[in-house]
Amino acid sequence: MDNIIVLDFGGQYTHLITRRIRDLGVYSEIRPYDISLDELREIGPKAIILSGGPGSVYEQNDPKLRKEFYQFIRYNKIPVLGICYGHHLIIHQLGGKVESKETKEYGKANLTILEPNLLFDLLEKEQIVWMSHGDQITEIAEGFTPYARTETCSIAAYGNQEKLLFGVQFHPEVSNTPNGNKILENFMYKIANCKREWKLEGWIDESIEDIRKVVGSENKVILGLSGGVDSSVAAVLLHKAIGDRLHCIFVNNGVLRKNEEIEVQETFKNKLKFENFHYVDAQELFLQKLANVEDPEEKRRIIGHTFIEVFENKTIELETLFPDIKFLAQGTIYPDRVETSVTSKASVKIKSHHNLTLPEDMKLEIIEPLKDLYKDEVRRIGLKLGVPEEIVLRHPFPGPGLAVRIIGPINKDKLDILRQADEILIEEIKKSGIYESLWQAFCVFLPLKTVGIMGDYRTYEYICSIRVVESLDAMTANFSKLDWELLEGISTRIINEVKGINRVVYDISNKPPSTIEYE
Ligand code: XMP
Repeated sequence: MDNIIVLDFGGQYTHLITRRIRDLGVYSEIRPYDISLDELREIGPKAIILSGGPGSVYEQNDPKLRKEFYQFIRYNKIPVLGICYGHHLIIHQLGGKVESKETKEYGKANLTILEPNLLFDLLEKEQIVWMSHGDQITEIAEGFTPYARTETCSIAAYGNQEKLLFGVQFHPEVSNTPNGNKILENFMYKIANCKREWKLEGWIDESIEDIRKVVGSENKVILGLSGGVDSSVAAVLLHKAIGDRLHCIFVNNGVLRKNEEIEVQETFKNKLKFENFHYVDAQELFLQKLANVEDPEEKRRIIGHTFIEVFENKTIELETLFPDIKFLAQGTIYPDRVETSVTSKASVKIKSHHNLTLPEDMKLEIIEPLKDLYKDEVRRIGLKLGVPEEIVLRHPFPGPGLAVRIIGPINKDKLDILRQADEILIEEIKKSGIYESLWQAFCVFLPLKTVGIMGDYRTYEYICSIRVVESLDAMTANFSKLDWELLEGISTRIINEVKGINRVVYDISNKPPSTIEYE
């Protein structure tokens, strides 16, 4: 299958480029900008895209492509499209000039296409595009033709048909460039002659076949099922492939949302008829270990370790009953595995997210059927596989659950208050019809008491903060500009119905600088 490799220079949109390419029908993966030529040769990409990045190509220490890269792609006739930093880099390395300009262009710009060419084939002469960099090409390299300009940027796109090198200063991958997909498609299909082969229907059949081949006809597989999108879709896929040789363990860690353990059991045991669904109620153990713990990282660590302990004990118990358990399946998806350089180079650990892997001495072979997919692909596959919509379209929920939505030490009372408030919020958001357009909506418990008045009485109760954000990938997020009446309805219901809360505030912070979760 054709593969377009996106070389990562640390741009915030690198994953987005890869997703767009896949959405447009060609499989795509990310690799670091300094990938070896041997690895590149082995992959045999049909085309290469150079991502954007925060650097400036004229700075000595900012990332560059090795010289042999250009020989390699020329020899193998691999078309390359540079986006933003990538667009600058090609020209900088091949003899042109890139400079920081005084009139910088950020945000929307009007692009004028200068002459007919394949990259802008069938597009109107005037286009709206999204710019996000302060540098510009001021002198084109030999053999390159300027394809487009804006008012303040005379070389906003270029091409070198002979060397198969192309560049755009703007970002075709973001939705703020309305014809971005057409430009990418021109590159993929008219310049690189890719075949439109990446389709999810085929993926399901192939993946089921692969799972059967790897697992064999006798062995059994164990899976930690949280009820979230990824582990649920992995479970249903595995269940299709090997039936009840799949054993799912669902751990109630005491920091789940209201009725979550009931709903997950209802879905998998009753609706989807999973024979081997094992429910482990470990609430007390988790809450005991979390008692008086204030530090968020410590909470995460305790939850991660206790989960492993509980999961391991249950697995050992199951192994004595079912000696053929040989595999451990995980719902890992592509962004969990492939960090782009923005995240991987960050020297300061911001949050120790993602869920710990199990100890090696469990001696189970790992299978990760969703490891090459993006979340929206997982969702589409989930729907095709018949995973109920309420699971597939559910907002992400962090592994450490409500523990990171209660500031400071947690206990059962605070958890119950938060669960009730959260249930009301989600109910109201769903009723208003906007649930699916949001990345996440949740309540946070602030352990601060303020004065209120209910009836004729003075109250002194806690604050609930409502966090509702829109995002594409959680790397950046904007608070949602919810309708005031909707917010008022939510606030009134929470204050009236949830004992322990007498004040509701709405969080209007974006990410960055604020993160989505509070801890
Ligand atoms: P932040 O708070 O870093 O969150 O802006 C980004 C996304 O990640 C989720 N999140 C987590 N998921 N374990 C998880 O599995 C965690 O410890 C964790 N912390 C944050 C968060 O809900 C958001 O979608």
